[in-house]
Amino acid sequence: MAPLLHILNGPNLNRLGMREPSIYGEETLADIEAMLAARLEERGWGLVFRQTNHEGELVEFIHAADGGKGIAINAGAFTHTSVAIGDAVRSVSVPVVELHLSNVFAREAFRHHSYIAPAARGVICGFGAYSYWLAAEALIHINEAGEA
Ligand code: DQA
Repeated sequence: MAPLLHILNGPNLNRLGMREPSIYGEETLADIEAMLAARLEERGWGLVFRQTNHEGELVEFIHAADGGKGIAINAGAFTHTSVAIGDAVRSVSVPVVELHLSNVFAREAFRHHSYIAPAARGVICGFGAYSYWLAAEALIHINEAGEA
């Protein structure tokens, strides 16, 4: 079976495409999932792609991903508010990459703080839907370099 990457999405990301498209773009989450699935398949990787609007469920998605090869997470607003999500990231042994569509550092001050970043291998933000592919590439690199 192909090694699995888990791409996890938090609140409001199910609204992509119709949600503030000038900030988050016109692509839907289903478009992003399809793009990732196709590119990962070409590279011999499998994909688990999930979204939830509930903090506790996102914690459970993180725990469930511990058997895979890595997690790329766009936790949405929970990034800036959730000690529980940060603790969940610290509780797993797979590499975790935090990602955002928008450049959170060019936005409101409350988006500059992340509870996830200190526990993550790295952070990718500001490249729209392409942030997802960059995060997946980072996880592939970490695994192929033996740094997982
Ligand atoms: C986001 C940035 C967050 O600040 C915001 O709350 C989101 C989306 C992004 O992908 O740019 O919901 O994570």
